[in-house]
Amino acid sequence: NKKAFIFDLDGVIVDTAKYHFLAWQKIAAQLGIEFTPEHNEQLKGVSRVRSLDIILELGKIKASQEDKDKWLIQKNEDYLSYLVDMNQNEILPGVLPILEFIKEKNQLIALGSASKNARPILEKTGILNLFDAIVDGNDVTNAKPDPEVFLRAAHLLQSKNENSLVFEDSVAGIQAANSANMISIGIGDEKILHEAKYIFKDFTFIDEAFIESLIN
Ligand code: BG6
Ligand code: MG
Repeated sequence: NKKAFIFDLDGVIVDTAKYHFLAWQKIAAQLGIEFTPEHNEQLKGVSRVRSLDIILELGKIKASQEDKDKWLIQKNEDYLSYLVDMNQNEILPGVLPILEFIKEKNQLIALGSASKNARPILEKTGILNLFDAIVDGNDVTNAKPDPEVFLRAAHLLQSKNENSLVFEDSVAGIQAANSANMISIGIGDEKILHEAKYIFKDFTFIDEAFIESLIN
């Protein structure tokens, strides 16, 4: 009876959350909106379109669809410019050994990400082949905290929700995992991710014994 290990991408597997932040901050600055790292927590795990709406709400700005589309394109182009030279070095510390350990133990691995840029990132970092299923921003209609992305991943792996574990760095993602009745594992600040069942500062704090305890 295998477990399904579902990983978020940005801020969990790769250190791209900082690039999303920088790119959004540029848009916000352009619009004269103050946008801090604290504000950014609300954007983590959230779709591109919803992220822009949150920023505009922060600045109490009403914009035309045309302007919004323009900013969305600008944000993504800017974000992608950070990824041009991306390679294995962008994988966060401790992640690769854990992915490999899960494989070694014959368990299932899926991606559950809101990003439409997920596949090229997995390719550039050389870990695409470790995934038994990939669900990303191109596959879902409802963004986290809606559990759709994780439910689809579990479905593709033919795993029951209660046999699925979700690694997440965002509040929205933890809420999505919890509402799907999956085991939520927060990666980051325990003050922010307190709704998670388990919380680790980063993957260097997760050892093989912990993974084994989840399997058995
Ligand atoms: C999530 C990130 O993984 O993907 C968000 O946490 C991002 O910051 C979202 O906005 C959508 O990503 P993308 O690459 O499709 O703009
Ligand atoms: Mg994330």
